[in-house]
Amino acid sequence: MRAREDGTAGFDLSENDIIAIVRDITATATDTTFNTLEWIMSELMKNPNVMAKAQTEIRQIAGKKTMVTEDDLNQIEYIRAVIKEAMRLHPPAPVLVPHESTTTVIIHGYEIPPKTKLIVNAWAIARDPQSWEAPEEFRPERFLGSEVDFRGNDFQFIPFGEDRRMCPAINFAMVTIELAIANLLYSFDWRLPGRDLDMDEGVGLSVPRKNPLYLIATKF
Ligand code: HEM
Repeated sequence: MRAREDGTAGFDLSENDIIAIVRDITATATDTTFNTLEWIMSELMKNPNVMAKAQTEIRQIAGKKTMVTEDDLNQIEYIRAVIKEAMRLHPPAPVLVPHESTTTVIIHGYEIPPKTKLIVNAWAIARDPQSWEAPEEFRPERFLGSEVDFRGNDFQFIPFGEDRRMCPAINFAMVTIELAIANLLYSFDWRLPGRDLDMDEGVGLSVPRKNPLYLIATKF
């Protein structure tokens, strides 16, 4: 706002531009990260064996530290697999972001003209039984010792997109998520206030839980 008022922005910055920037920050950064954290915790509550293994891993790595810090993260092999598996089942942007073709391309004999809107269903791709064994099951072990990653080279798993417009914040987002989850699992034990936990999806560009996740934390 100040840059707009004193002219130091160097370009016209309208109210609409500012609204768009704020929406960009919330939609691309905050919502994706927050929703991912909530789905990871939901899957862990549904899968107590996985929760136990993840907690054992981080408690062995961090030892008696007050908090998990970034230098611990290069050792969290199992938790990283948990995060990947949660992102496979709940990609924060299930249909990525619409793209537009610039030239004529032929795909499987179909001619796609320029300026065609392309919407990629990353959600369906990540549950395709041709690529994934038991795709509906939450099995972090599938990523242990596997080369499959989300950096855009493995087309069966593209939560961050897969081309030149893929998420520019992939490294920042992953460190944020790893650090948050590792600390939640390190410092607390978790239980549900009730007996059951639904996994219904809400609506949004980044898909949230339909109902909020309420958990009871006990200091470890
Ligand atoms: C779990 C976390 C995140 C996921 C899964 C995610 C995923 C994505 C996806 C799928 C796209 C669209 C790629 C495409 O066009 O095909 C995207 C774009 C983008 N993301 Fe992320 N994102 C995450 C976190 C973040 C964070 C934390 C930031 C910023 C700090 C961010 C900034 C952006 C921006 C600016 C774009 C638009 C890039 C462009 O101009 O095309 N993202 N992200």
